[in-house]
Parts: sequence; C-alpha cells; structure tokens
Amino acid sequence: MDFSFTEEQLMLQDVARRIAQEKIAPSAEHHDRTGEFPLENIQLLGENGLMGIEVPAEYGGAGMDPIAYVLAMVEVAAGDAAHSTIMSVNNSLFCNGILTHGSEAQKQTYVRAIAEGQAIGAFALTEPQSGSDATAMRCRAVKQADGTYVINGKKSWITSGPVAKYIVLFAMTDPDAGARGITAFIIDTDRPGFHRGKTEPKLGIRASATCEIEFQDYVAHADDIVGKEGEGFKIAMGVLDAGRIGIASQAIGIARAAYEATIEYVKERKAFGAAIGTFQMTQAKIADMKCKLDAALLLTLRAAWVKGQGKRFSNEAAIAKLTASEAAMWITHQAVQIHGGMGYSKEMPLERYFRDAKITEIYEGTSEIQRLVIARNETGLR
Ligand code: CAA
Ligand code: FAD
Repeated sequence: MDFSFTEEQLMLQDVARRIAQEKIAPSAEHHDRTGEFPLENIQLLGENGLMGIEVPAEYGGAGMDPIAYVLAMVEVAAGDAAHSTIMSVNNSLFCNGILTHGSEAQKQTYVRAIAEGQAIGAFALTEPQSGSDATAMRCRAVKQADGTYVINGKKSWITSGPVAKYIVLFAMTDPDAGARGITAFIIDTDRPGFHRGKTEPKLGIRASATCEIEFQDYVAHADDIVGKEGEGFKIAMGVLDAGRIGIASQAIGIARAAYEATIEYVKERKAFGAAIGTFQMTQAKIADMKCKLDAALLLTLRAAWVKGQGKRFSNEAAIAKLTASEAAMWITHQAVQIHGGMGYSKEMPLERYFRDAKITEIYEGTSEIQRLVIARNETGLR
C-alpha cells in the first residue's frame, strides 16, 4: 500500500491551495455576510483547470484522477465551503453523467463549457415533495409525435440554479415504470419555458446560490437526452456516488480549517496561568479531532482510489461521506467550544465553519440515506 501522492496530484493540490488561501479565504467573510455569488473566483478556478479536474483534456478538462479531485476540493473547501459547493456541482454532478453516458456532441458542447470555466452547471433531482425519496418525482417530460419532449414541473434546492447556463435535469417519462421511467435531459436555461425562483436564504454556504426552478412547456429534443430514455435514475445514482466523494472532501476541508485554527488558538490563549492547550480536557478534544479528521481523509482517499480503479464504489463513497460529514460537524462544534466566546463571534471564522459543516450531513443524500446505502450493501437486505 502506497500512501504517497504523484507529482501531478501534488501540483494540482498546490494550485488549489494557492488560490484558496490568496483569493478565496480572504473574501470568505464578505461572501458569507452578503451572500454574493463569487463569480470572479469561480472563473479563476475554471481558468486553472479546477472546474473539470477529472474531465479528459479532449473535452477541456485537466484529465486528472479522483485522488487529485479530493486533494483540490479539500483545499478549496478549507478556503471557503461555498466555493467548493459550486466547484463540486460543476466538476462532478454536471460533468460526470454526461461523460459516462452522453454523446460525443454533448461532451464537446456542455462538458467543455463547464470544464473550461465558461459557464456554470447545475443538477436537478430534488423536488418540493421528494428529496431522499428521489423516485417520487412529479416533473414530467411527455414525448410528442414529432419526437420532442414537453417538460412541466418544479425542482427545488438547485445549487447554482440562479446562475446556471446548463442543467442536468431528471424527469419522469414513464410514471408507471417508477425508477425505470426517469430520463436525464440537458436543459439550456436560455430557452423558453425555463424559470428561476428566488435565491434561498441559508444557514451556511451562503455564497452558493440555490433556488427553485420551474418548467412550463419547456421543449427538449431527443438529442438533449443523456443516455437513453428510462436510464435517468441509474445515471443520477452513479453521479451521486462520485458526488459524495466530493462532499466528503468538502467536509474534510471545512474541518481541517477549524482544526488548524484551534491548534493555533490553544497555544496562544491562556487561562489559570497556562495555555489552554495544556489542559487535559482540551488535549483530549484535540486528539479526537485529529483522529476523526485523518479517518475521514483516509476513507475518502480510499473511495477515490476504488473509483480510479474503475470498480463500483457506491459503498466506499457513502462510508466516506457519512464519516467525513459527521466528523466535520463534530470537529467544528469542538473548535467553537475551544475558542470560547471568540468561537461564537463573527470576528473569527469558527462560527462560519460550524454553520457550513451542517450542509454536508444533508445534501447529496442525508446521513440517514448514507446509512441506508451502507446497510443495504453490507446485508444485501432492502
Ligand atoms: N448506481 C447505479 N444504480 C443504482 C445505484 C447506484 N449507486 N443505486 C441504486 N441503483 C439502481 C438500483 O439497482 C435499481 O435498479 P433496478 O431498477 O434495475 O433494480 C434502481 O436504481 C432503483 O434503486 P432502489 O430501489 O435502491 O431505489 P430507492 O427508491 O430505494 O432509493 C436511495 C435509493 C439510495 C434512497 C436513493 O433514492 C437516494 O440516493 N436518495 C437520496 C437522493 C440524493 O442523494 N439527492 C441528492 C440531490 S443532489 C444534491 O443534493 C446536490 C448538492 O447538494 C450540491
Ligand atoms: P427529506 O427527504 O424529506 O428527509 C427529511 C428527514 O427524513 C431527513 O432527516 C432524512 O434523512 C429522513 N429520511 C428520509 N427518508 C428516510 C429513510 N428512508 N430512512 C431514514 N430517514 C429518512 N438537490 C438537487 O437535486 N440538486 C442540488 O443542486 C441540490 N442542492 C442543495 C443545496 C442545499 C443547500 C440544500 C439544503 C439541498 C440541496 N439539494 C439539492 C437537495 C438535497 O439533496 C435534499 O435536501 C436532501 O436529499 C434531503 O431531501 P429533503 O430535504 O427532501 O428531506
């Protein structure tokens, strides 16, 4: 077993770290306070190959492996979680399904636009009445005599919905077929019949813009379908397996930032005539934080490694996301506690890390859904 990284992986990590520390982290407080979408920074990430890390060079990407993706996501998330959410949707949720199931023309047009940072993508599965129970969707795409599809319905909580040029949408083409009646379409948001709702105010990742979207007689063509009619749910699940590695990495980045701030603080802050880091109760917290952080990172790298081997990695990805998101929640909670009143203050980033960490337990499958996926894989029971 080799725990070292390649030169290429380390180079990408270094690029991501530099942008995260020099450009993203300094404006994180501003973006969190205002909720302003960080377009310039997103374009900068795109120009540096960070919006299509695993996308082959022939489609405008960096052509790197899943390990490189983990390393880069961790760095960007440590700078600011909201930026890493946008990055993860572009890299993973938007590009992956088209790369694995799309046509050559779709890859050249849509994947290239996102991977080169010319446009922002989104992924629309969730609806107002169906999140975890994704097959209970109501959005309908009805096939017409001329071979086009007319789409009507709503999708909620769509990350980058307010700014996306293209969206991978999942809609029911055959309601009687359940999961096998769902089809994936590429939506061009400039075409008639597409509408955006108001941007949602959120607890954390506030600069990542999220909204409801609605389709009113939107006309999609047969060549807008990704894969084949009825394959949409499997495409969505496969894409989410990969997406969950990205969210695990995001959780690790947030947790690492909180952990590193804590290590500095416990050496400087004094109480009862000693640095608070000398108290055994603080030391126990630090040891537990470090163990959870390393466990999360190793499990996430394992999931990325299995993915890189071309094997099924659903279980490894769910284990990584569950472990990393719960570690991030616990670590940021302890980091706030160790900073005392300053942890609760907006003058330091700890309270932001705490708020940002929470989303990793909710999106791309809640912790309960990760447990369901893991237990089903382990037992074979349903
Ligand atoms: N890969 C490939 N195929 C898969 C799969 C996978 N990982 N998981 C399931 N499938 C297939 C099954 O084999 C089955 O196929 P058959 O019809 O051929 O038998 C089909 O999909 C249906 O599977 P299930 O019966 O297991 O489906 P289910 O209704 O029980 O749901 C679930 C399973 C795991 C709960 C799933 O619905 C799920 O993951 N829910 C959570 C939804 C989610 O994560 N949403 C995230 C939205 S995106 C987002 O959040 C983005 C963001 O924040 C930035
Ligand atoms: P529900 O499914 O209603 O769940 C409510 C509670 O019940 C949860 O605790 C859940 O774990 C629990 N529960 C549900 N089913 C089970 C079960 N079988 N066993 C045990 N417990 C269960 N979606 C997209 O499609 N695209 C996006 O870009 C996107 N971005 C998002 C960004 C943000 C900021 C947020 C908050 C959400 C986003 N989502 C997106 C939606 C997200 O994936 C869903 O919120 C998530 O999957 C949970 O669905 P829900 O909110 O409907 O909760």
